[in-house]
Amino acid sequence: MKFIKVDTYDKLSSIAAGIIAAQVILKSDCVLGLATGSSPLGTYSKLAEKYRNGELDFSRVISVNLDEYVGLDGSCDQSYRYFMDNNLFCNINIARENTYVPNGCAEDLKAEGLAYDQFISKLGGIDLQLLGIGLDGHIGFNEPDEAFVPETHEVVLDPSTIEANARFLASKDQVPTKAITMGMRSIMQAKRILLIANGAKKKEILEKAFYGPITPFVPASILQLHPDVTVVYSEN
Ligand code: F6R
Repeated sequence: MKFIKVDTYDKLSSIAAGIIAAQVILKSDCVLGLATGSSPLGTYSKLAEKYRNGELDFSRVISVNLDEYVGLDGSCDQSYRYFMDNNLFCNINIARENTYVPNGCAEDLKAEGLAYDQFISKLGGIDLQLLGIGLDGHIGFNEPDEAFVPETHEVVLDPSTIEANARFLASKDQVPTKAITMGMRSIMQAKRILLIANGAKKKEILEKAFYGPITPFVPASILQLHPDVTVVYSEN
């Protein structure tokens, strides 16, 4: 694992955008695994800047997102599809039909999860997976549990995750309580992983995840078993 500590969110975002940019330049038809949340916002805006400056071409890139709330479709401004469209996809030249987010409105979420995994595997897997980390150690929405779940699956969000995500809404009651998330298999089979974490509040969970025991009660700890993980952390 490579651990890069910087002193500002701006530097974190520049480094993360640089790593993703290098991936796109080296393999123009790469598969990017993408995340939502507050951590990648700076990274996405720097990628858009690189695109505007003519440094990057996303026309052959395929993206697969980690997760989506159950019951929200892309027209809802709290959905992760909406987040991606508005914070990244509309600012770069990726073809919208090449961007994939699990369908949180699928009637059969189990079948949706299976199809999502099969699709990723047909693409040849993910070249570079961007991750954030929750205060409880979740990656995607793989919450602490008795076992790591390999498949893309439906999850009941942890109360601490609902609390953390309430900052994007008027109240906690508006945060959906269920999500569909990529499971550990597709994440762990990604060729490279880039995890970004911002703020002193993430320090303790990073220590647990990367220097503590590997346990499904700290989902990100599974990343200790991945051969190519870069963590970029800014305390501020
Ligand atoms: C979002 C996701 C989550 C977030 C995590 C951290 O797609 O998969 O695991 O990365 O909740 O969120 P922020 O960045 O808002 O602290």
